[in-house]
This record gives sequence, structure tokens and C-alpha cells, in this order.
Amino acid sequence: MRILLTGARGQLGEQLKPHLEPLGEVVAVDRAGLDLADGATLRSRLAELAPTVIVNCAAYTAVDRAETEPDLAAAVNGVAPGILAAYAQETGGYLIHISTDYVFDGRGCRPYQPEAATGPLGTYGQSKLQGELAIAANGAERSLILRTAWVYGAGGTGNFVKTMLRLGRDRPEVRVVADQIGSPTWTGDLAIAIARLIPQLSPKISGIYHYTNSGAASWYDFATAIFEEAQLRGFPLAIERVIPIATEDYPTPAQRPAYSVLSGQKIAPLLGGPAPHWRVALRHMLDELRDRADSP
Ligand SMILES: NC(=O)c1ccc[n+]([C@@H]2O[C@H](COP(=O)([O-])OP(=O)(O)OC[C@H]3O[C@@H](n4cnc5c(N)ncnc54)[C@H](OP(=O)(O)O)[C@@H]3O)[C@@H](O)[C@H]2O)c1
Repeated sequence: MRILLTGARGQLGEQLKPHLEPLGEVVAVDRAGLDLADGATLRSRLAELAPTVIVNCAAYTAVDRAETEPDLAAAVNGVAPGILAAYAQETGGYLIHISTDYVFDGRGCRPYQPEAATGPLGTYGQSKLQGELAIAANGAERSLILRTAWVYGAGGTGNFVKTMLRLGRDRPEVRVVADQIGSPTWTGDLAIAIARLIPQLSPKISGIYHYTNSGAASWYDFATAIFEEAQLRGFPLAIERVIPIATEDYPTPAQRPAYSVLSGQKIAPLLGGPAPHWRVALRHMLDELRDRADSP
């Protein structure tokens, strides 16, 4: 098996690579190695790289900036996944594509099933939905779309956990949105899930699946847990208070779903059970972050 991993320097791609290596030959590419915005050369580059499985972790992920760069977001997130799916279909390979909870409008109050009606609120979510539809139109049978949410890991350039640790190191107080509910998801568990899916790939398990860590939290709950767990692990912290605020008190260019918990019911049998709880996952990530800081 020759596995093409895109977005290899992103927070998920970086964590996933070692989990793929036992499964086959891994070709890990960053943007310079395979530019998903360049639809014209994508096909010929794929033919050169000749993967039998593609794991697409690359994406335009700047949720707010997408509002002013809709064409780039659409090219990377909306068009390119269709080209990857068509390649998999034509060559008898498979595509695993990562998508997002931001395809939903967040008006629900029960965990979203994969077939629930979509309704993205912003340009990023629209572009990711466009990508899902492009996959369905070009290579549905040989593609698995994995929607996830609130992703964080020890690698990559930044995420909510790293931001909280940075702010909490210098400030006595942070204000965090308490009326958006989702499931924080550690790249470590997501990577294990993806690696478990690869040997099972077949047209029978094509389609859309949801994978997040179990349980639900607001950003405020998550921030509070980050500081509690980080304190126990000896991270340097000046923080004394986390103040819950409303979404309207923290305006952003892109609107986020108020509720975006994803049901993992459909994927659980493929993974041998439900995903670990988000708080357990957070502990693992903080341990990893501390170990990375300690290592010479
Ligand atoms: N982060 C979240 O909270 C979240 C939530 C739900 C779903 N997801 C999905 O999960 C997947 C992985 O996200 P992540 O958090 O690992 O994101 P990330 O850390 O931002 O990584 C994305 C990677 O894609 C690369 N990329 C951007 N534009 C590209 C292009 N034109 N061609 C090739 N590569 C390009 C980036 O490279 P550069 O660094 O060079 O730009 C980056 O390494 C994405 O599909 C994302 O939509 C993420």
C-alpha cells in the first residue's frame, strides 16, 4: 500500500504520519509538495505520486480569513477533494478526507448524525461542504469522509489549547465563550481512528462518518479543564479566573455553530467502541506537550 498523506505539516498530518508508517509506504507532502489550490496540476502530480490510498489532511483552515478569501478556500476545500476522489475512483484506490462540524448550522440540540441536514454559517464551512459534495459526485464509492471538530494537538502551529496555555501563563484572567457547545478532539485519538480505518477501506464503508472525542463541552468548560489539568502537570500559569462570556461579546468575522456535537454511533463498530472522553484525551495531549518541552 502506498499512502499519500497531504497536509503533513498540519497539526493532524504531523500526528498521523507515524501511525501510517506501519501500514505501508508513506508519501507525506506539504503544500510545496502538492498544492491543492492548483487544480490544473493536481491530477498529473497525483499520477506521479501514484498512491493507492490518499489521506487528505490538507485544508484551508483559517475560518475567519476565509470570509475575505472565498476563492482560495473554495479551491482547496471545495474543488481539490473532488479531484482526489476522482483519482481514487479511476485507479481503484481509496480516499479518506477530513471534514468538519462547521457544515452544520448549530441549531440542533442532539448530536448530529452523518446524514443530518447541513447548513454552514460561514465561507469555511461552505467550502468544506462543497468538498464533500464534490467527493460524492466524483468518487463516492471509494471515499470515506470523516467529519471531526474542535481539533487540537501538540504539533502544528496553533490551536485553542496552546492559545489558552499562552494566555494563562501571563494573565490572571481570560474571557471565554460559554454558549458554543462541541466536542474537543485530540489529534492523537483521531490519528489512531484513521489508522484503524485504512485496512478496512472498501466500498461498503464509503460515505460520511463522524469522529470526535466523546462528551461535550463549551469553550469555557474546555478552557477551565485545560487550566486545571495544566496546573496538575506543572505548566507555568498566572491564571486566576476564567470568565464565561456570550458569543455576542466576542464577535468574529465568521459565525460559528452554537451546537455542533457529532454522533459517533455510526463509526464506533469500525473502531471497536466509542472514542475516549475529551477530558482523558486532553490529559494525553498535555503530557505529550510537556514531554516535547522537556526533550532536548
Ligand atoms: N482545526 C480544527 O479545529 C478542525 C475542526 C474540524 C475539522 N478540521 C479539519 O481537519 C483537517 C486537518 O486540520 P488541522 O487542524 O490539522 O489543520 P492545519 O493544522 O491548519 O493543517 C492544514 C494543513 O493544510 C495545508 N494546506 C493549506 N493550504 C494548502 C494547499 N493549498 N495545498 C496543500 N496544503 C495546504 C497547510 O499548510 P500550510 O501550513 O503551508 O498552510 C497545513 O499544513 C482539515 O481538513 C480541517 O478542515 C479541523
